[in-house]
Amino acid sequence: MIRELEIAENGAKKAGQIIKMLLGKVRISEKGLNYNLVTEADTAAEKCIIDYIRTVYPEDGILGEETASNTKVEDNRVWIIDPLDGTTNFAHNIPHFSVSIAFAEKGIVRCGVVFNPMYDECFTAVAGGGAWCNGEPIRVSTVSTCSRSVIGTGIYYERGPIMLRTLDSIRKLLSANIQGIRRTGSAALDLCYVACGRFDGYFEYRLSVWDFAAGALIVREAGGTCTDTDGGERGLHSKGVFSNNGLIHEEMFGFAGWPDDDSAPVGPEA
Ligand code: IPD
Ligand code: CA
Ligand code: CA
Repeated sequence: MIRELEIAENGAKKAGQIIKMLLGKVRISEKGLNYNLVTEADTAAEKCIIDYIRTVYPEDGILGEETASNTKVEDNRVWIIDPLDGTTNFAHNIPHFSVSIAFAEKGIVRCGVVFNPMYDECFTAVAGGGAWCNGEPIRVSTVSTCSRSVIGTGIYYERGPIMLRTLDSIRKLLSANIQGIRRTGSAALDLCYVACGRFDGYFEYRLSVWDFAAGALIVREAGGTCTDTDGGERGLHSKGVFSNNGLIHEEMFGFAGWPDDDSAPVGPEA
């Protein structure tokens, strides 16, 4: 195990304990929009992670969702942190959220951790070394058709063309008789669910780097695929995520891929 993975795992677990302790007890604020929330748990968890990393690697760059910084993903050594992925769930006392921490060197993620403090499930991966849940190796599912699949999705804080496109893709997938659609509210956990075979695929058209940096590595190390939503490889600059077990990739892309030259359906809300 590389030292950075140990630090990421310790940091995620420390933050996870804080979040769990604060569930149902903290003030909730809106980030400009009434449906983009932030809580005292988000900021407390991020502070805890950053303070901890700084004690071990004081020189490293930090890109955390709740802290302004000049760090770029291409910098030499960067920690990419989502201190609470699933804030809307947390704010509504729905016990499904996670802490996500990735460590990258010059834009390449070397290791990642996604911790669900409510289930005590810790998903980890090391580039080229494999993926695990609580220390046990994980693999993507072996389902080879969409009609035998459960597919996760998410809807970004946008109620225009991206939302409409997501709803259209859900309609297409359900019309193809997939076994189920899930919108769990934590992108990082959605990716881990693909990695361990609970989901066969997951897509979301707009995400931030801290939502997927750790989870994308965990999926790939578990044998799955994770690309941008048009099927391209943009690494940490992806605008969203299109992920699956590899076996259903083409079929799922036909229903839910978003090629660059393809425009979103336009509705009254767009
Ligand atoms: C959100 C969650 C959600 C996804 C949103 C993300 P946050 O992150 O991952 O599942 O649909 O796009 O922004 O705001 O809870 O950290
Ligand atoms: Ca997030
Ligand atoms: Ca967050």
